[in-house]
Amino acid sequence: MADELPVTRFESEIVDLVKKHDVVVIIGETGSGKTTQISQILHRAHFTASGMIAITQPRRVAAVSVARRVASEMNVRLGEEVGYSIRFEDRTSDKTQIKYLTDGCLLRELLSDSELKQYSVIILDEAHERSLNTDVLLGLLKRLAGRKCPDLKIVITSATLDGEKFSSFFSGCPVMKIPGKLFPVEVLYSTEQPINYIESAVQTALEIHTQEGPGDILLFLTGKDEIDKAIKKLEDRIRLLEEGSCMDAVILPLHASLEPELQVRVFAPSPTTCRRIIVATNIAETSLTVDGVVFVIDPGVVKQHQYSPATGMYSLVVVQISRVQATQRAGRAGRTRPGKCYRLYTETMFENELAAVTVPEIQRSSLTSAVLHLKSLDLKEVNVLEFEFLDPPSRASLEDALQQLFIIDAIREDGSITSLGKRMAVLPLEPSLSRALLAAEEASCLNEALTIAAMLSCESLFVANSKKSSSNKRDLEFKNLPDGKGLGDHIQLLQIYEEWREDGFRAEWCEQHGVKTRSMMFARDIRKQLSQIIQWESKGSSRYKQKGPDLVALRKSLCIGFSNRLAHRMQRHNGYRTLGTKSQLVQVHPSACSMEVDDDGLLPEWVVYNELVNTGRPYIRNVCAVEGSWCQPALKKLSSLSVNKLGGTQSNSGQRAKQEEKETVQTEKAGLEKPSAVQK
Ligand code: CDP
Ligand code: MG
Repeated sequence: MADELPVTRFESEIVDLVKKHDVVVIIGETGSGKTTQISQILHRAHFTASGMIAITQPRRVAAVSVARRVASEMNVRLGEEVGYSIRFEDRTSDKTQIKYLTDGCLLRELLSDSELKQYSVIILDEAHERSLNTDVLLGLLKRLAGRKCPDLKIVITSATLDGEKFSSFFSGCPVMKIPGKLFPVEVLYSTEQPINYIESAVQTALEIHTQEGPGDILLFLTGKDEIDKAIKKLEDRIRLLEEGSCMDAVILPLHASLEPELQVRVFAPSPTTCRRIIVATNIAETSLTVDGVVFVIDPGVVKQHQYSPATGMYSLVVVQISRVQATQRAGRAGRTRPGKCYRLYTETMFENELAAVTVPEIQRSSLTSAVLHLKSLDLKEVNVLEFEFLDPPSRASLEDALQQLFIIDAIREDGSITSLGKRMAVLPLEPSLSRALLAAEEASCLNEALTIAAMLSCESLFVANSKKSSSNKRDLEFKNLPDGKGLGDHIQLLQIYEEWREDGFRAEWCEQHGVKTRSMMFARDIRKQLSQIIQWESKGSSRYKQKGPDLVALRKSLCIGFSNRLAHRMQRHNGYRTLGTKSQLVQVHPSACSMEVDDDGLLPEWVVYNELVNTGRPYIRNVCAVEGSWCQPALKKLSSLSVNKLGGTQSNSGQRAKQEEKETVQTEKAGLEKPSAVQK
């Protein structure tokens, strides 16, 4: 099977090219074998004699699934010669020669091994996805390539034809194009724009199933909820079809939060006796290839995170895909034989409304983590504001990151990184949460803070649609932390974990309380790892049991960590106003646990929050009640900020820096000292 892949046919050319050049770009159709084969090819050519081969993946799921596949192709045990490393999970050993890892993991490794000495080759895979971390890596590897690390080989692989762009970024390095063996795909457009794309997609799938010959169907939707909804509809309607009128159907979901056992089903050889209908997120667009697909249904939408540096708000919005993505999706139908792609939008729309290419993540994300990372690498000659990116982020977005880092004590006024900042960068958490842990360490409540950090790192904790979970989350009785009631989500997360711990970490407890056992186990594991990283001896644990945790110290620590995300309640109602360079009127997210209210029914006056999200309207999510007096240091810092210095101009930033020095950012002071004055 592997022999037939296009990449394998170019084995000797690939080896020669990588031997001759420091940086090589390889372009090949999705499914041509780049991810699974190039590492093996270079291994066979003995590159691993001088160090491991690293292959980065933007997605955790892909890193795991591909490593598993390669281990089985090489007939070795996963974690030995072939392993993977993703955040909070390392399956590698002394024997490991081929290591699949997320781009975020490789970035973190750069902190302790700045020249990546343990590797002979770095394959930056799926570069076309342009994930934030991959973009930062591109900039950093450019600095390492060639003279600085003469023994390190860099291979960049991409599915789409923007090889020239990568090549010119790397001073004209060679680009190798692997001819694809894509079969023709007939593209069919809708004659009009459907009102409901899920319904339209389900209808189209049913028509294909009842009218077309054999071949699996791949249907793209934007997220788990939509996928579940569509699967339910499909199952209900297929059940109504007359028996024997068409072949059997198996309907399978595919998305990042799917349990691993269920993911495997999609990669099992497709049965000949029935048709598979795979309902997937964007993950099936390029990172995972499902064999056997002949029909693709493309509603033309994708869910995307969009960060606004002006407001600090994240929105998760359904947006139109780009033409590159549409082409990519269609291509998935022609891998094994001629296929068909049903676009649930009009041809005019494709031509005139879809953007040509996707906006890279770096231009629509918060850069706080990335900038902290660059700062901690101590790139002496570089001002972060001038770091060389393939597509530079906006200045506003870099400035936003610098300001946030300044407020949470990661960098000084002159832009240099603090010792706290250095420690924060090492923790595999977002900077505010890392800061909260370090503050908690100082205040002797690290034990509890670790639990909260671990719980926040679990993607979904509550069992969806469980009657128990909704009522439970709001009304969970604080048996062993009676003082914790009404203080917000962080304290409740601590409470949940504590009750589970006291109950002996049992699965039954989770089932009874509407929380996911898997997530809780994961939290327990993360907690352990975090405490190892922070190198802390669990001295406080006995005090913990006798007296109960010091919730004031704990909330103070959270207040320090999240001092870049403070909100102040309106005087007469429960709306909040966020504090920062740009403030926003927001509500507490409906998923929050119930918080203590005063006699007038008003929520706590001051809170910190984890996220500011726009889901229809602006909400703050994961909220913790704090005291006004704790917020003063942050408010002071907010009132004077000079972004230009924060960039870290250590030397030759020249004219531009001088000119910008004048443009000192003026923080909106109004309302910070006298919050009541700004209420309308
Ligand atoms: O990276 P690229 O898209 O070029 O291809 P690949 O991921 O290396 O996939 C090559 C082949 O391996 C495809 O036929 C995939 O279906 C198969 N594969 C698989 O069966 N299971 C995986 N976990 C990964 C790949
Ligand atoms: Mg790939």
